[in-house]
Parts: sequence; C-alpha cells; structure tokens
Amino acid sequence: MKQESYILVTGASSGFGREIAIRLSANSPVIIHGRDKERLKETLSACNPAGKHLIWEFDLSDVNGVEESLTRFLSENNCVVGGFVHSAGYMKQLPLKVLTVDAFRQSFDVNVISAGMIMKVLMKRKVNQGALKSVVFISSNVSKFGVKAFSAYAASKSAVDGLMHCLAVELAPVVRVNSVLPGGIRTAMTEQIYQNEEIQKKADATYPLGPGTPSDIAGAVKFLLSDDARWITGQQLVVDGGRTINITI
Ligand SMILES: NC(=O)c1ccc[n+]([C@@H]2O[C@H](COP(=O)([O-])OP(=O)(O)OC[C@H]3O[C@@H](n4cnc5c(N)ncnc54)[C@H](OP(=O)(O)O)[C@@H]3O)[C@@H](O)[C@H]2O)c1
Repeated sequence: MKQESYILVTGASSGFGREIAIRLSANSPVIIHGRDKERLKETLSACNPAGKHLIWEFDLSDVNGVEESLTRFLSENNCVVGGFVHSAGYMKQLPLKVLTVDAFRQSFDVNVISAGMIMKVLMKRKVNQGALKSVVFISSNVSKFGVKAFSAYAASKSAVDGLMHCLAVELAPVVRVNSVLPGGIRTAMTEQIYQNEEIQKKADATYPLGPGTPSDIAGAVKFLLSDDARWITGQQLVVDGGRTINITI
C-alpha cells in the first residue's frame, strides 16, 4: 500500500507553527508536533477536516531521542514526510552577565540540533522512501542583526541558518532547504515583551509595514514549500515588514 505523504510542522501547538499547520492543511495532511497535548488538539481541530492529520508529541530538548521517536512514529502511522517546517523554538532574554551553559544548550538543542536530527531521519531511504522535497526552518532576523540580551538565541538562529545553507547544497537537487527570518510578532513567546504597551508602541513604529501576524509568516512558508519556489534553495527570506531595512532616524 502506498504511504501517504505528510508535511511535518514542529512547534505546531502555538504561534507561527500552529498558523503554518492550519494553512498547509488546506492542501496536505499535516503532522502537528509539540509538547502540550491540549494545545495540539486545538490546532488539530482548526485544520482542514478533510485530511487525516496526525499528532507527534515529543520534547525536542531530548536531542538524543529524536531519531528513535520520529522513526517509530512514521513507521507506526505508515506515512512519509514530503515537507518539513521547523518552527519549534526556545527563546530566553539573557544579558551576558546572567548567561548560563544550560540556557545556551537549550537554545541550540531545540532551535538547531533537533532540526538536524529530524533531517537525518527524513533523508533515510528506508524510513522516508525518498519522499522529502522541501524544507523551511523558522530562523529569526536576529540571525543577521544584533539585539541586547539575545546572544544565545541569536547564535542558535545563525546556526540554524548555517545548517540550512549546508543542507541546501548537500541535498540538491532532490531537496530544497530555506529559512524564514521573521521580525518580532506577538505570540506566546514574545507576549511578555509586548505586554509593556510602551515597548509595543515603540516597536510598531519601527516597522514600515506596521505590525505583522503569524499569518504573514505562514504565507512565506507556504510559498517556499511550494513548486512556485522550485528554483529557490539555500536562502534566508526576511519577513519583517521592512524592519531591518529601516534606517530612518
Ligand atoms: N514571535 C516572534 O516574534 C518570533 C520572531 C522571530 C522568530 N521566531 C521563531 O518562530 C518560531 C515560533 O515561535 P512562536 O513565536 O510561534 O512561539 P510560541 O508561540 O511560543 O511557539 C513555540 C513552539 O515551540 C514549541 N517548543 C518549544 N520548546 C519545545 C521543546 N523543547 N520541544 C518541543 N517543542 C517545543 C512549543 O511547543 P509546546 O508549547 O507544546 O511546548 C510551541 O509549539 C520559533 O522558532 C521562534 O524562535 C519568533
């Protein structure tokens, strides 16, 4: 029996990942990944009811367990993955004086290493039957620019873009690999920052196109995954409403 091809979206229990999974479910069954069972079910119930979507619950900070868990999940559900979006992310604002090895490791485990290990599984012919065609990592515009107290997070996002560049070359012409670099958008991850109305107002004023939403990120991801982007690989697509090209005083 032919195995059904899915799009795997990590971090689909919240924020961008949820919006991406819902958007992509219009045209493909999706594997909704995250840790929080209740919020994963909420995402599932908002997806296109025509698809046989699946939920993969796994804590990506267990980087040594990724290969085993995902391989078993795909085999038990008799499915393959044709598209992969890595939206799961860990962010903690940490000025240098309070930076810890653990915070550094957590950022790299969730934001980078887990993405690499998922890619390894998805490229195993025996496991995924050569099904993988297109991949998008959710990076951040801090991959290319500086922000105070974001050093560990930014380093991990630059690393995920490094992973993207190398895999784009290594896996061509079979698989395309790109990154989306969002600007700041209000989600569970950034809620604490934007709760401060003054910061919210100040931030909004620096975005030439005004504030963005998770839907703006989902649109860019959908394009990069699609055949409309068939000659695009190894790129960092900045989706930040013009924030990082704005040098207005
Ligand atoms: N929001 C922004 O302004 C912004 C800007 C640039 C880039 N980004 C990036 O965009 C991506 C999505 O962020 P978001 O704003 O949508 O944040 P969010 O709403 O907090 O969602 C984060 C997602 O990551 C998952 N996750 C976190 N740690 C995990 C772990 N150890 N194991 C498995 N899953 C884990 C969460 O799953 P559970 O809740 O189920 O644990 C959740 O689904 C992240 O990579 C983030 O770095 C965000």
